[in-house]
Amino acid sequence: MENNIIAKPKRYTITSALPYANGPVHIGHLAGVYVPADIYARYLRLKGEDVLFIGGSDEHGVPITIKAKQEGVSPQDIVDKYHAIIKKSFEDFGISFDVYSRTSAKIHHETASEFFKKMYDDNKFIEKTTEQYYDVEASQFLADRYITGTCPHCNNEKAYGDQCEKCGASLNATDLINPKSVLSGNVPVLKETKHWFLPLDQYSDWLKEWIVIGHKDDWKTNVLGQCKSWIDQGLQPRAVTRDLDWGVKVPISGADGKVLYVWFDAPIGYISATKEWAIEKKKNWEIYWKPARNADGTLVAGREKETKLVHFIGKDNIVFHCIVFPTMLHAEGSYILPDNVPANEFLNLEGDKISTSRNWAVWLHEYLLEFPDKQDVLRYVLTSNAPETKDNDFTWKDFQLKNNSELVAILGNFVNRTLVLTDKYYNGIVPERAELNENDKTIINEMAKYRQSISGSINSYRFREALSELMNLARLGNKYLADNEPWKLVKTDETRVKTIMNLSLQITANLAILAQPFLPFTADKLAKMLNFKELNWNDAGCIDLLKPGFQLNKPSLLFEQIEDAAIEAQVKKLANSKALNETKAATVKAAKQNIEFEDFAKLDIRTGIILTAEKVAKTKKLLKLTIDTGIDKRTVVSGIAEYYEPEKIIGQKVSILVNLQAKEIKGIQSQGMILMAENHNGELVFVSPIKDVIPGSEVK
Ligand code: MF3
Ligand code: ZN
Repeated sequence: MENNIIAKPKRYTITSALPYANGPVHIGHLAGVYVPADIYARYLRLKGEDVLFIGGSDEHGVPITIKAKQEGVSPQDIVDKYHAIIKKSFEDFGISFDVYSRTSAKIHHETASEFFKKMYDDNKFIEKTTEQYYDVEASQFLADRYITGTCPHCNNEKAYGDQCEKCGASLNATDLINPKSVLSGNVPVLKETKHWFLPLDQYSDWLKEWIVIGHKDDWKTNVLGQCKSWIDQGLQPRAVTRDLDWGVKVPISGADGKVLYVWFDAPIGYISATKEWAIEKKKNWEIYWKPARNADGTLVAGREKETKLVHFIGKDNIVFHCIVFPTMLHAEGSYILPDNVPANEFLNLEGDKISTSRNWAVWLHEYLLEFPDKQDVLRYVLTSNAPETKDNDFTWKDFQLKNNSELVAILGNFVNRTLVLTDKYYNGIVPERAELNENDKTIINEMAKYRQSISGSINSYRFREALSELMNLARLGNKYLADNEPWKLVKTDETRVKTIMNLSLQITANLAILAQPFLPFTADKLAKMLNFKELNWNDAGCIDLLKPGFQLNKPSLLFEQIEDAAIEAQVKKLANSKALNETKAATVKAAKQNIEFEDFAKLDIRTGIILTAEKVAKTKKLLKLTIDTGIDKRTVVSGIAEYYEPEKIIGQKVSILVNLQAKEIKGIQSQGMILMAENHNGELVFVSPIKDVIPGSEVK
């Protein structure tokens, strides 16, 4: 029956969410989006499919402008910095993008503008004038994040214009009691402003038909569930423009000072990236995004599904990739829709939500400093524990366990035994097989099944299952060796040993192919040892991958044990983050009452240098210091002996309050006070100038 045949796609457009360029990337990003997307892309390429795997940085949006303000630099400076860091992390972890672009690129501004313009010209937007908060002093409209005030639900005084982080309520800026502008601290005023809205409500039936009915069997339940609930709650028109000076300018007249909403422009970034790639590689970008059409514009029958578009994202992006962006693509009219959106849930870290501001994360660039060349170990652990159906937890103990008892003990062990024995018995030359016994035949049959089963799991986006199948093949190999014990037989039955080793080598070669999407560094290393020129997915299952007489290269270990000390160091690092957060929360005292400038001017604070230091006898805490204050050389008794050894602080620059009434401490006249700050461990640290100043310089 013709309409039961699902035509195989001709090409694959694979996108991965564009990370915001306002911070580095961590294990949550890898586990949720980039490793699964990369496995999928590598697998398809290995099968010889036409694949375009797209990534890039999302460089617009309010948080980037806020970060730039905080750091006193331009938004472009911020995104330049993080785009470079993020791009490098992905390269280092073998995320095999065909293109990694960015939304501040010219081609993106052009593409996003054109997209908007086409929809605008076709009357796909609703124009609405609403009242929004405006900061008169800064003369600009305030994005939700630029307004704080009291939450009407829980009275938290630091709620934002879009959300209260204390009680979680989602808010409108006008809900806030006592709203304040973050820019000036002033009370904002309401002012009229015009914006363009995408009337999602008008597409509700279409979305229901396409998602809830059309994809009920092939989309993940977590994704379908969210979509249904959004649609059932009733979709509202959504503003796709903002009053902001950072982003893609709204490309129509009368829209000065307005840019496209970041969630309007960012997904178009997938298309811009494709164009960038196509220009560079002299390819046609359109076939990756548009269906084949007849001269009259109608779709060519039977070719609608030629290109398979798949979006890899985290669960917080579901509404944008399943509802908003598809509606944009549909309304624009010339594009294909995603075939699937395999969104993952979240990865937690040691039982807590990953958080940038609390530094509760394993940053990819830091991981590589501490575990250089162990990219695949992290890829393995994150895949075997991927949050595919529910939130999951990453722990360092589990990381160690999976490395030591799975990668080393199962995969590494099998490959190593096989290659070392081949090297020892045959100088690395593949031996011939003689007659096969029943056990050999079973093994061959079993082995032949893995390509299919792993493919099946990957095709349905079940990457953990696929990886665990791969490990089962290594287990099969180990069992074969253990059952046949070639190291014992070698004294009595050389012919039999050759057969055993030949088959073990074929399993090893299969592992090299099948591991490639998951563990690309390991697979490459193994391929080199096997002297393989090229890996091809469709060769897996074959028992003649390595022909008798073929010379292998010298073996080396694929994985190594990770010791307790390395894990303890990581756990300790996290504990420090936690302690720092706790003391931050506990010890930042409220500000004291305001004073007049004259009060401050009474303090005479100077820079100085410590000339001598010695412990004050019979005390634990006190040091007797001589300070060059520029004015004089004087004695000060300071309570810092627990933190500093006297001989180590000679020459230390300090700030000293010189007009404090002298006081006798333990029989010593102390003339002034050294300024110290308490750090998160409760230690006192010097408040000293960070550049050279001469002693006696006034601190003002
Ligand atoms: N920057 C967004 C995030 O990190 C993802 C954007 S995906 C895109 O949540 F499609 F909009 F690009
Ligand atoms: Zn609240």
